[in-house]
Amino acid sequence: MGNRTKLLLTLHVLIVYFLSFESYVSIKMDTNAMHPGQSLSGNQTLTSSNGRFELGFFKPGNSTGHYVGIWYTLSVDVVVWVANRDAPLYDPFGSRLELTETGRLVLYNQSEIPVWSSSNTVYDSVVAVLEDTGNLVLRNGSTSSSSSLVIVWESFDHPTDTWLPGAKLGGSKMNRKGQRQSYVSWSSWNDPSPGPFSLVLDADGTPAYHVLKNRHRHWTCGSWLERISSFSTDIVADKYTNMDYVSNKEENYYNYSITSPSIPVRFKIDVSGKVQKLVWKDDSQKWETIWEKPKEDCEIFDFCGANGACNQFVLPHCRCLDGFEPKVPAEWNRGNYTNGCRRRSRLRCGNDAKHGFRVIQNILLPAYEVSLTNDKSLEECKSACLRNCTCIAYTIGYDGNCSIWREDLVTIRYLSYGDNLGKDLYLRLPEAGGDKPRIRIKRFTISAAAATVILIGILGLLVSTRRMTSYSDAKATDDVLVIFKFGDLKSATKNFSEKLGEGGFGSVFKGMLPNSDAIAVKCLKFQDEEEKQFRAEVSTIGTIHHVNLVRLLGFCLKGMKRFLVYDYMPNGSLDSHLFYKDSKILDWKTRHHIALGIARGLAYLHEECRVRIIHCDIKPENILLDSDYNPLLSDFGLSKLFGRDFSRVLTSMKGTRGYLAPEMISGEPITPKSDVYSYGMLLLEIISGRRNWETADDKNDNYFPARAAICLSNGGDVLSLLDPKLQGGANAKQVIRACRVACWCIQDEEQNRPSMAQVVQVLEGVQEINIPPIPWFIQTIISC
Ligand SMILES: *[C@@H]1O[C@H](CO)[C@@H](O)[C@H](O)[C@H]1NC(C)=O
Ligand SMILES: *[C@@H]1O[C@H](CO)[C@@H](O)[C@H](O)[C@H]1NC(C)=O
Ligand SMILES: *[C@@H]1O[C@H](CO)[C@@H](O)[C@H](O)[C@H]1NC(C)=O
Ligand SMILES: *[C@@H]1O[C@H](CO)[C@@H](O)[C@H](O)[C@H]1NC(C)=O
Ligand SMILES: *[C@@H]1O[C@H](CO)[C@@H](O)[C@H](O)[C@H]1NC(C)=O
Ligand SMILES: *[C@@H]1O[C@H](CO)[C@@H](O)[C@H](O)[C@H]1NC(C)=O
Ligand SMILES: *[C@@H]1O[C@H](CO)[C@@H](O)[C@H](O)[C@H]1NC(C)=O
Ligand SMILES: *[C@@H]1O[C@H](CO)[C@@H](O)[C@H](O)[C@H]1NC(C)=O
Repeated sequence: MGNRTKLLLTLHVLIVYFLSFESYVSIKMDTNAMHPGQSLSGNQTLTSSNGRFELGFFKPGNSTGHYVGIWYTLSVDVVVWVANRDAPLYDPFGSRLELTETGRLVLYNQSEIPVWSSSNTVYDSVVAVLEDTGNLVLRNGSTSSSSSLVIVWESFDHPTDTWLPGAKLGGSKMNRKGQRQSYVSWSSWNDPSPGPFSLVLDADGTPAYHVLKNRHRHWTCGSWLERISSFSTDIVADKYTNMDYVSNKEENYYNYSITSPSIPVRFKIDVSGKVQKLVWKDDSQKWETIWEKPKEDCEIFDFCGANGACNQFVLPHCRCLDGFEPKVPAEWNRGNYTNGCRRRSRLRCGNDAKHGFRVIQNILLPAYEVSLTNDKSLEECKSACLRNCTCIAYTIGYDGNCSIWREDLVTIRYLSYGDNLGKDLYLRLPEAGGDKPRIRIKRFTISAAAATVILIGILGLLVSTRRMTSYSDAKATDDVLVIFKFGDLKSATKNFSEKLGEGGFGSVFKGMLPNSDAIAVKCLKFQDEEEKQFRAEVSTIGTIHHVNLVRLLGFCLKGMKRFLVYDYMPNGSLDSHLFYKDSKILDWKTRHHIALGIARGLAYLHEECRVRIIHCDIKPENILLDSDYNPLLSDFGLSKLFGRDFSRVLTSMKGTRGYLAPEMISGEPITPKSDVYSYGMLLLEIISGRRNWETADDKNDNYFPARAAICLSNGGDVLSLLDPKLQGGANAKQVIRACRVACWCIQDEEQNRPSMAQVVQVLEGVQEINIPPIPWFIQTIISC
């Protein structure tokens, strides 16, 4: 009793002493502790004994309310804890924070009404100490001696938005009594009342941590310790902190400590839902954010709503999946994606239902999958999906098991090409190809006309003397394939006198139609008896229209000879512009335009047209340029015409081998990825301005694909790979993308090569691309 009176007296004297100063700059109780009966009011504070933290009343920003809180003395605006976060006070001098005789901290407003208190339990001889860690602790026992001290309450157990070193994220397991710490954002920068966002540790006892928004998943992450999240790789452990994950019967939590007492670090969940790691920088006297999650909108859970897909590299980030449309278009167009997307036409289920799948490439797989452990292969997985009407998508998931989805697809995110987490998802659509045909008809207005050509083609098969349209009867219009009379071709080409070129499949001659349209006539090398088949194949090729594909105007049959008639391209083929000294130098812009155009044309052949076509002979000689240097791919579909002979011709052809994918040379089945390989080789030539297999400066070790791959892998100066004729005049970002994608295209394993559609996206800059590994065949070259 006597002791307490003495203390109160001392306190009183102290306060009077300080008050007697005219202009006290800061009134501090010269201590870090409060004893029963003592209180703080107005501008009185407690300071931790290391001087780092201060406890007292504060008023955030221009707010009218006052609060009791703890802040850093080195940046007083950084408040790390608030007692009365949703019970503001309006007169700090009339309010007081008191440590009661019964061992509770109670905050009274000016009407003497308690607005906040530490706990309801009654303790004897409790002391309140602001510790060096910033933790406000109520200890049972007024002397700081011995181990008999019991902590009866501490602010670390009741955190606000800041996770300080020494405090926990997590705590008692859910089924046990005890504290479990999560951190809740302020409502706004000047209102500490609890906001919608909280940082929590997974309730299931795993090391995963989440940001919740109004208690729903907002952003989620793997374990902090593994240093990886399911979204991207983080490094939270760094030179400033050590982080631990503790898990036992009672508890699971993260805790961390700082490596240097002079460099303060804190984590915070800010008002916009971002988790930040901040470090105090002495030289700038500022807090620096050294880590932040989620960094990008696309990392936010369900950002694009159901069945929306997020692409961080384009604006707007959200777009509905193929076959889907916004549920509420007005909201969607305003950038409110919460309503998501719905199917354009319903999936009908039943025996007669014709369902196709569309592959969505290189994405982070959506949430809520069902893992089927029995089905291992992609084919098994597909049939498992087809077996069940409720299945809307399938793929082999991250655990190697078949995953199927039954609900709306949530949180689909496009990743950088080459990202380890990138997977292909097979999305169920009402019929093969989904809505694609409709788009194609619109874009190319060929529907009816193409059908006519096909019909005529079929009639042609039935009555082989029937002509499709002879040149004398009809003009070569966009839509109709013309059957030329041999005599007409002969006079158009002045008896095949002006040769444009010669390739493995035949010679090409220039011609002029009576209406002054220039044409190129390809005289095929092979002799053919199967006229019907030839007509069928040609009419198929004739239906393929794309701005980057040379248009087939018609054909001609003369005995066993076969001729194909194309639009004439005034600027010839790409090789003459890239490799010959006396030609005009193609600037980077044109080269990029050419590379992109060819990629689009190939993507169309591979994925979009009704008959999927593998070109098999991508090389500069087959890229033609129109008068505006728009690229057009020629000779597509020949693989169909030549059938089995095709690959034999190809592999024996001079000047082709350097473009052939390993599987083509070894005689394995050819896939669209074989074209991708050839395209990669072509793209490297477009970048370097010389043949890949030519050696510059007579140096034998100068195989350009090897130089490019090594340069990329070493993080070298990619611009040094550029054609010296351009003298560095190029968009560096585009060159880097082009080099990276080219090097991914020439990977040994087909599955590591991108699809042409992905190549297009990378060149367009709407997909990011990681650094490619050095292809194996190049590693063997450089090691010998
Ligand atoms: C502390 O409070 C007194 C009123 O009791 C006031 O006069 C003084 O300006 C305050 N000091 C500071 C630093 O705000
Ligand atoms: C505080 O200032 C911000 C702008 O800085 C303003 O938007 C807000 O309305 C102000 N709040 C009050 C309570 O004055
Ligand atoms: C004190 O708190 C009580 C209860 O919240 C409230 O009714 C009262 O208006 C407050 N008084 C002042 C002066 O803020
Ligand atoms: C507080 O400590 C005293 C001894 O210092 C002990 O007798 C008492 O039981 C403790 N009370 C609580 C609630 O821990
Ligand atoms: C986390 O807490 C455990 C148990 O108290 C302790 O052993 C460990 O050192 C702490 N880890 C860090 C990084 O502070
Ligand atoms: C988004 O749309 C939903 C439903 O239409 C609506 O409830 C919500 O308020 C909208 N959100 C915003 C930010 O406009
Ligand atoms: C994947 O399948 C294996 C059995 O093949 C099983 O042990 C494992 O638990 C499965 N993974 C998941 C997540 O179901
Ligand atoms: C299909 O899915 C439903 C609902 O998820 C499930 O109850 C049912 O057993 C599945 N049917 C088959 C044949 O797998």
